[in-house]
Amino acid sequence: MSTEIIEWLHLIFRFAHVVAAIMWIGSSIFFMWLDSHLTSPQDEKERDSVEGELWMIHGGGIFHSRKRILKPGEIPELLHWFKWEAYATWLTGFSLLVLIYFLQSGTGALIGLAVLGGGWLVYDLLWRSALGRRKEIGVAVCFVLLMLISYWLCRVLSGKAAFLYIGAMLGTMMAGNVFVHIIPNQKKMLAALCAGEPHDIDLGKHAKLRSTHNNYLTFPVLFLMLSGHFPQMWSNDRAWIVLGIMVLALAAIKHWMNIRERFPHWLPATVGTFLIAAVSISFLKAPQKLSEGASAVEKGKLIFTNRGCVACHQAGPIQQGPSLVGIFGMPQVLTDGSSVIADEAYLRESILEPQKKIVKGYMPIMPPYEGIISDEELNFLISYLKELHE
Ligand code: HEC
Repeated sequence: MSTEIIEWLHLIFRFAHVVAAIMWIGSSIFFMWLDSHLTSPQDEKERDSVEGELWMIHGGGIFHSRKRILKPGEIPELLHWFKWEAYATWLTGFSLLVLIYFLQSGTGALIGLAVLGGGWLVYDLLWRSALGRRKEIGVAVCFVLLMLISYWLCRVLSGKAAFLYIGAMLGTMMAGNVFVHIIPNQKKMLAALCAGEPHDIDLGKHAKLRSTHNNYLTFPVLFLMLSGHFPQMWSNDRAWIVLGIMVLALAAIKHWMNIRERFPHWLPATVGTFLIAAVSISFLKAPQKLSEGASAVEKGKLIFTNRGCVACHQAGPIQQGPSLVGIFGMPQVLTDGSSVIADEAYLRESILEPQKKIVKGYMPIMPPYEGIISDEELNFLISYLKELHE
C-alpha cells in the first residue's frame, strides 16, 4: 500500500475511533450519572412501576427520564439500545492497530493478536469460574496477571508499544463484555418479558457486573491510549511497574467519582490518589546513578536512557528513529539521496542539529539537543554509539 493511502486510512480510522470512543464512554458516564441522580416519582400512582425519575434541561428542551420496572407484555415498540458505540470503537481501534503496528512487523502482529485474544479468554473464563464469585479475589488475580503481561511485553516490545497493546487488550475486554454478556443478557431479559415471564434478576446482575468492570476500566484504557504522548512513562526500565501504578490509581479515582454522591471526601481522595501515584512514579523512574569508576561507554549508555533517546531508537515493532546498532563508520543514506559516512562529526551533528541531515525513510521529528546536553554528555554518548554492536 502506498504511504499516501496508509496516511489517509490512518486519519479516517483514528478520527472515527475517537468519535466512537467519545460516544461510548460519554453514554456510559451519562447513564451512571442518570442512575445516581434519580428521585422517586412525584406521582404517587407511579411508585410501583417507576424506580426513579429525573427532569433535565439541555439544548433548549426539557427532558423527563424514568427508570422503569417492566411488567410482562409492557415492552415499548421503540426501545433504543447502546451497543454500536462499543463495537465501532473496537473495530476502528483494531483497524488502527493493524495499520500502524501489525503491518509493520509480523512478530509484533502475532504478539498483539495473542495478547488481545488470550487476554480476553483468560479474563472471561476467570470471571465465569468460581473465582468470579469472590469479587475481591477475582480483581486481585486479574491485577497480578496484568503485571505479568506488562513485565513480559515491556521486555519484548518497546515501552510505547507495550502500553498501547495492554490498552488494546483492556479495550477488547470492555467490548467483549458488551458483545458477549451485556447485550445478550438484555436480549434474554426482554425475550422473557415478551413471553409473559417476569424479569430474571440474575441476568441483570451478571450484565451489571461486567458493566461495572467496564466502568472501572475506562480511565486506565484512556490513559494507555494517550500514553504515546508521554515518553517519560514508558521509556524507562521500570515502565511495567509505572503501568501497574497508573492502572490502579485511575481505577481508584474512577471509584471515588462513582461514589461521590455518598462520599463527601471524594475530591481530596481523588487528589490524594493522584499525588501518591505521581510521587511513586517519579521515584521509580528517577535516573539511575553510576558508580565512580564507570567507563565512558557505560556513562553514554545511561545518558542514552535518561535523556529519552531510547524512546525513539529502541528496536520494536514501531520505531520512530533508525536503529543505531553498528552505526559508526557505516554509510548513511539521506532524504536527498546523497550518502554520508557516520563518523564522529556526523554523530555529533545528528545529535545537536538533527534537522541538518535527515536519514532516508524517517520523519524530521528528532528534537535538537544543542544547548540541552553538555559537551561531556555528548562525548559519552558518542563513545557509547561507537561501541554499540548487536
Ligand atoms: C522523538 C524521537 C527521537 C528522539 C527522542 C531522539 N531521536 Fe535520534 N533520530 C530520530 C529520527 C526520526 C531520526 C532520523 C531522522 C533524522 O535524521 O533526523 C534520528 C536520527 C538520529 C541519528 C542519525 C542516525 C542515522 O542512521 O544516521 C543519531 C546518531 C541519533 N538520532 C541519535 C540520538 C540520540 C543520541 C538521542 C538522545 C540524545 C536521540 N537521537 C533522540 C528520532 C529521535
